[in-house]
Amino acid sequence: MKEKLLEIRGAFFSALEEVLTPQEVEKLRIEYLGKSGALREILKQMGSLSKEERPRMGELANEMRDSMSQAIADKLGELELRLLDRKVEEEKIDITLPGESQPMGRVHPTTKTIRELIDVFIRMGFVLEEGPEVESVYNNFDALNSPKDHPSRGLSDTFYFDPSTLLRTHTSPVQIRTMKKMEPPIRMISVGRCFRNDEIDATHSPMFYQMEGLVVGEGISMADLKGTLEEFVRQLFGEDTKSVFRPHNFPFTEPSAEVDITCFKCHGEGCRFCGGVGFIEILGCGMVHPKVLEECGIDSEKYTGFAFGMGLDRITMMRYEIDDIRYLYDNDKRFLDQFRR
Ligand code: DAH
Repeated sequence: MKEKLLEIRGAFFSALEEVLTPQEVEKLRIEYLGKSGALREILKQMGSLSKEERPRMGELANEMRDSMSQAIADKLGELELRLLDRKVEEEKIDITLPGESQPMGRVHPTTKTIRELIDVFIRMGFVLEEGPEVESVYNNFDALNSPKDHPSRGLSDTFYFDPSTLLRTHTSPVQIRTMKKMEPPIRMISVGRCFRNDEIDATHSPMFYQMEGLVVGEGISMADLKGTLEEFVRQLFGEDTKSVFRPHNFPFTEPSAEVDITCFKCHGEGCRFCGGVGFIEILGCGMVHPKVLEECGIDSEKYTGFAFGMGLDRITMMRYEIDDIRYLYDNDKRFLDQFRR
């Protein structure tokens, strides 16, 4: 029996030398030390031994089981360590390698213009108001004193949903909404999309951006209008930009004017951009028509006001020397990528 036991021990240890994975170690353990493993099988024959031999064999078998169990534990520890070493070796990262750069988004040029304009007017004490793109014909035309037969009301110029609802053709209806909900003094601006059934070309888009401004209070005069807009022009286009007020006509203001500023490109000399005149028109403005004030429930004997409206696409194009409005709406990444933060 002793030989058999020693034989098992020899076989176990040489098999253990060969194993490479924890799974194989477990297989060996079952094979030799398990319930029906080699050692147990031998010990079943203990009964046939003499009284003197039995305890000696028992002792040897115990000793063997202990040393084999210990060897298994050692082996597992060793394998685990080796596995860890391999993992460390394989997964090591070189922190000196250059990182992968993430492309940064850019702010759209129109958005930049809008943000700067809002800043200029907020600093002058204006508040920002909003109005819907889907408007009533009343707010867009009637309340603004637009003649019933004005060509801009026509189906070929304006997108209608039904006879009383349209896509606003300018931001001026926000004036009406503001005057109807606020008491003077009022100092507001509003920015947003407008829609006109225009041809699409280098200077026209059926969707475009406008900014509207309105001031209503006691004793508001044309001088306040000029002072405010001149300050705005200086802040947005630079100290030495000149502005000229040219008489014009709008149904919702009386008197009305358009403002031209010195051409950003030739500074007044005359060039391709300004059509040789040295000035470019940037906005419409005027003193709010008494009829418009009254329509909104504001006493036109007590209060006066001024208003202005401007196309933001035009202003953006001037600031960035963009010669086609379609670039602003095409979402061509090559174009947009040029506008760094
Ligand atoms: N609504 C005008 C347009 O779309 C612009 C405008 C002119 C707005 C004069 C005003 C204003 O508030 O007073 O062309």
